[in-house]
Amino acid sequence: MTADIALRTATPDEIPALLALWARAAKGTSITDDADGVAALLARDPECLIVATPAGDPAALVGTVIAGWDGWRCHLYRLAVDPRYRRRGIGSALLAAAEARFTALGGRRADAMVLDDNAEGQRTWRTAGYGPQPQWTRWAKPLTA
Ligand SMILES: CC(C)(COP(=O)(O)OP(=O)(O)OC[C@H]1O[C@@H](n2cnc3c(N)ncnc32)[C@H](O)[C@@H]1OP(=O)(O)O)[C@@H](O)C(=O)NCCC(=O)NCCS
Repeated sequence: MTADIALRTATPDEIPALLALWARAAKGTSITDDADGVAALLARDPECLIVATPAGDPAALVGTVIAGWDGWRCHLYRLAVDPRYRRRGIGSALLAAAEARFTALGGRRADAMVLDDNAEGQRTWRTAGYGPQPQWTRWAKPLTA
């Protein structure tokens, strides 16, 4: 990663900026991509949302990853880098920071949902050492209150 980028954890006051970054940088949308969803995430685990900022402008968000640890498994979500900042190693640095967090917490394996038609994303995951497990398919059910 270039030296002019810094990593830190996000804070709840940054939720609008996070949603704006995902709207312009993330691939696809998630059922939890709203202010209530991100607020619940940060309340549950204040250290899980890692952001990248220009070193000289720490309020400007240019990359994110959610390093979700539930005490059992390590799940990665919302790996996204602002299009103006791609191919500088930021995505790789975010993944390395997430993995360092998981390792410190006792995690043994990290995983991510990767869209089958997201060739660009797949290259980044493969470069970082991830690969598909074709024997598994995600089974899901939306929950109602
Ligand atoms: C995927 C994404 C996060 C990568 O961020 P990034 O900061 O550009 O990634 P890096 O610079 O760390 O690239 C890491 C490596 O991935 C590969 N890679 C990344 N983007 C690539 C591209 N467009 N073409 C070819 N290889 C690519 C390269 O091997 C690259 O290393 P290199 O630049 O030394 O060759 C970014 O492209 C993005 O936000 N995409 C849209 C959201 C998305 O798809 N997220 C993943 C959801 S599963």
